[in-house]
Amino acid sequence: MKIGIVGLGFVGLSLSSVLASKGYEVIGIDNDIKKSEKISKGKLPFFEPDLEKTLKNGLRKKLTISNNFSLIEVCDIIFVTVGTPQKLNGTIELSIIKKAVKEIGKVIKKSKKNQIIFIKSTVIPGTLLNVILPIIEKESSKKNGRGFELISNPEFLQESRAIQDTKFPHAVVLGGYKNKNMQKAKNFFSKLHSKTPIIITNHQTAEMVKYANNSFLATKISFINQLSNICQNIPGSNIDDIAKIIGLDPRIGGKFLNAGPGYGGSCLPKDMKALIKFASDVGINPALLNAVEKINENQINEIILLITKEIGIISSKHITILGTAFKPNTDDVRESISIELIKKLLNKKAKITIYDPKATENTKNIFGDKIIYSKSLIDALNGSQCAIIMTQWKEFENLNNIIIKKMKKKIIIDCRRILAGSKLNAKYYALGIGK
Ligand SMILES: NC(=O)c1ccc[n+]([C@@H]2O[C@H](COP(=O)([O-])OP(=O)(O)OC[C@H]3O[C@@H](n4cnc5c(N)ncnc54)[C@H](O)[C@@H]3O)[C@@H](O)[C@H]2O)c1
Repeated sequence: MKIGIVGLGFVGLSLSSVLASKGYEVIGIDNDIKKSEKISKGKLPFFEPDLEKTLKNGLRKKLTISNNFSLIEVCDIIFVTVGTPQKLNGTIELSIIKKAVKEIGKVIKKSKKNQIIFIKSTVIPGTLLNVILPIIEKESSKKNGRGFELISNPEFLQESRAIQDTKFPHAVVLGGYKNKNMQKAKNFFSKLHSKTPIIITNHQTAEMVKYANNSFLATKISFINQLSNICQNIPGSNIDDIAKIIGLDPRIGGKFLNAGPGYGGSCLPKDMKALIKFASDVGINPALLNAVEKINENQINEIILLITKEIGIISSKHITILGTAFKPNTDDVRESISIELIKKLLNKKAKITIYDPKATENTKNIFGDKIIYSKSLIDALNGSQCAIIMTQWKEFENLNNIIIKKMKKKIIIDCRRILAGSKLNAKYYALGIGK
């Protein structure tokens, strides 16, 4: 069984590494030459726990990394894992995936194998049958079901635990026609994930499942953030206790109820926008989804309100931002609320210093010399007039009275309530705890 994987980002590189380390012969393709060269040497283009070890293990076995598409001609199955970002107007950008499947179509034209092509990239319902399939059929001069099989296989991994999620997904969804190739696909995944439920459905339902999943997660976050804002006005109340207690109700569940600055990252914001646009296009008023998004967008104003309340005019104040990654254990800053906050504070002429254990380089790519980058927590606080905890990095739990001694004004705004239990000689405000 030879496996081709097209697009070596968080999803594709994790999948390539895990499959190769399990002994499959894998050919990973990325059209970014520098990236594919780096990966082929066992170096990561981004930080993801356990990935480097898994990649190196895969490379020692049967993993080939290249930018040469023709290598996948010999593959029995091909995964498409390229990015599907958003356009400026919020709709889904399909040009990247169109280009990738065009290349795949050309390559499978020459192949004698009856390849199964799994689309893992998140795409709006209808994209496989109306956009991707016609491209592959045209380029390969083959028909779906005769020469190749196109199956939707949405991905649910979370960055920061991509390897774990790739090894042990909570579900495998296969969207397509119920035929022999689908049975082959099912057998492949059953062997790989013997304990995971495998659900077979049609293309469009599988595509929609991913949006249902992410919009539900976004809804949970906006729900708890709205409650957190209410709690902040109830002296003594604590959103974490409330989340913990309601989470014990099995109908609710405890995950994704962490109040904070709002959801960010490479998936939830763009998938929400794409779903909202899609709903409008099919004549549905997505009132709930709109509200979820609005609450998320407003959450940053809650933080600015707190800052203004505590330090007055923001202009020329020295503010430290702790954490720029959209969540801990990643260096991904795509759509990070922390990045948005920095932009807003810079507009108000604040002097910004940041510290993030992993995301400094990616933050530099955005702000260049407009802000200061610290190498340690303690340096970041030197001379600061206000520190804002944005990302729930474990390291920030070390913040104590000795470390904050270096601050010019000891004001801490904790958007993650990491220090809620600490006795700090500081003016301490936590999002979601009423004062
Ligand atoms: N990152 C996540 O947590 C996550 C989770 C679930 C689903 N998804 C979805 O999976 C898809 C991939 O996400 P990602 O975060 O891994 O993306 P990414 O942007 O990190 O990586 C995509 C990779 O594809 C490469 N690429 C682009 N065009 C190519 C082409 N024509 N040929 C070969 N390679 C090409 C890029 O160079 C890049 O390395 C997206 O649709 C995303 O929405 C992502």
